[in-house]
Amino acid sequence: MNGIEPVAAALRRARGVVVLTGAGVSVESGLRSFRGRDGWWRGHDPARLATPEAFEADPALVSEWYDTRRLAALAAAPNPAHEAIAELERQVVVAGGRFQLVTQNVDGLHQRAGSERLVELHGNLTVWRDHRSGRRVTPGPAAFEAYPVPGPDGGWLRPDVVWFGEFLPPAALAAAAAAAASCDVMLVVGTSAVVFPAASLVVEAAAAGAVTVEVNVEATPAAVGHRLIGAAGEVLPRLVRASWPSARPRG
Ligand code: APR
Repeated sequence: MNGIEPVAAALRRARGVVVLTGAGVSVESGLRSFRGRDGWWRGHDPARLATPEAFEADPALVSEWYDTRRLAALAAAPNPAHEAIAELERQVVVAGGRFQLVTQNVDGLHQRAGSERLVELHGNLTVWRDHRSGRRVTPGPAAFEAYPVPGPDGGWLRPDVVWFGEFLPPAALAAAAAAAASCDVMLVVGTSAVVFPAASLVVEAAAAGAVTVEVNVEATPAAVGHRLIGAAGEVLPRLVRASWPSARPRG
């Protein structure tokens, strides 16, 4: 693949690496993206499904849709892209470098692939909370019996994710921004780079002089220095092996 060697060389030299991921990294695990081919937002209105107002208006519709996605995420398995990112973390850390994985995904697949240094900017679908009290619960593997789902404190259960119009978890955003401002290399994987503030992390890394690299099946508006066009599950294992020939991503 053209352009992979300069990126591999930058990764080998790097003292700080950030990987920013989006829904595209889980497409090869069978989970739909939002704006890509067959994306959720091509057939569904995000204003009717992914806002606090939508939940107030129709908690049954919203919680059933998110429960469908929760079950799909639990049934899915990490793919070679997730595995390669976990191996990249190991290689950077073993070499004494700093590593931060920043995900917009709520499917929990990075953790299941072994990623440790992870911030979830948009929450996690496998955790739900009472929409009145905020108390969190982790539902079992089965679908909820009925929708909406009564919460432990008199509210309804809602997924512990960030909806449009809601603030990101401050600690996660602060950790992501600090890592972006001090990294040498940022990989931007499987995101359309149109949702902020996540998309601004690429700008912050570039402004800090980092080597910025997009891995995507198509070019996006992200202002990056390098583009590796292809499926993340193919490109990332190849990039890890090119960077560290002895590396053996699981999966
Ligand atoms: N490998 C790499 N990239 C891929 C693959 C793949 N196999 N399949 C699709 N893509 C790319 C698409 O080309 C697209 O650019 O992944 C990107 C997915 O973009 P979106 O669907 O917009 O997902 P994302 O960027 O994560 O969305 C950001 O928007 O809807 C909200 O909260 C939601 O976190 C989400 C946020």
